Amino acid sequence: MMSAVGNPAGNWDHVPMSTDRKAVVVGGTGSLGRETCVQMVAAGFETTAVSRHRPDSPVPGVAHRVADLRTGAGLEEALAGVDVVVDAANTVRSPIEVLVEGTSGLIEQCRQSEVGHYIGVSIVGCEKIGFGYYRAKTAQEQVIREAPIGWSLIKATQFHDLLASAFGGLARYRISPRGPIPLQPIAAAGVVRRLVEIAEDGPLNRTEQVAGPEISDLGTLARTWQDHSGRRCLPVRVVVPGKTGRMLRDGALTDSGAAAPGPTFAQWLKSGTSPPSA
Ligand SMILES: NC(=O)c1ccc[n+]([C@@H]2O[C@H](COP(=O)([O-])OP(=O)(O)OC[C@H]3O[C@@H](n4cnc5c(N)ncnc54)[C@H](OP(=O)(O)O)[C@@H]3O)[C@@H](O)[C@H]2O)c1
Repeated sequence: MMSAVGNPAGNWDHVPMSTDRKAVVVGGTGSLGRETCVQMVAAGFETTAVSRHRPDSPVPGVAHRVADLRTGAGLEEALAGVDVVVDAANTVRSPIEVLVEGTSGLIEQCRQSEVGHYIGVSIVGCEKIGFGYYRAKTAQEQVIREAPIGWSLIKATQFHDLLASAFGGLARYRISPRGPIPLQPIAAAGVVRRLVEIAEDGPLNRTEQVAGPEISDLGTLARTWQDHSGRRCLPVRVVVPGKTGRMLRDGALTDSGAAAPGPTFAQWLKSGTSPPSA
């Protein structure tokens, strides 16, 4: 077991102790999932990553099982004897099938396998955004809140590596986005610290938000990435029409009250944690 010395002010330091608790990280090979595996092992959980594909470089000390949320294949075997499931699976290709129906099937399998705690991850403000993926995340949240077992739901702002990868992808076309869209990015590792703390402490049975240390805007963050990478790009204004556009400009994706300690986007880029620029 591990005792938390964290406090509501956001001190997430923990004192690790040995544990015989078993954890599964669904989507344990993705951005958030891999870091979750690293920190769950460090916290003393016997940890298994679950995904459709085996990782090229597994996290040391973490087992891997193949399972598919879309079909449910492999889940029963993966969840046998497990105490806590962290669900870090994600897809933008078929979000209803994987994130909504798949989450429903995963939680039902948790119930049947007597897993005591399901931890889900969503996005700050997704319920205000009309894009298909965000609608699916909102529907997934509803599934989680109706879970018949102990549950916790963490809504996070955009991860630094998501922004870096988006700016890198656009830079291949020599463009860089601009626009007054407030964003409050956070290091995935900071989100994971809170997930691990919750895995330790037991179900919240409520939703909690976690956000980066400062609110910036899309254009400023894109310029920061450009300065860091040295890429020359044409600035392109992003215009999102309608209600979603208004919501985005009004800061739907931010939550100043949920600001957590950790590196800003610029500090994170400088720290060298980011993948090489595209
Ligand atoms: N990225 C962000 O900025 C951000 C911000 C806030 C919240 N979140 C939330 O954080 C969570 C994780 O996001 P991420 O960006 O870390 O995801 P990611 O890097 O895209 O990783 C997705 C993971 O899900 C697995 N997966 C996909 N389809 C699957 C299926 N059918 N069955 C089983 N596993 C499947 C993938 O492995 P295989 O493809 O091998 O199956 C992979 O391990 C999501 O809930 C997301 O909404 C993300």
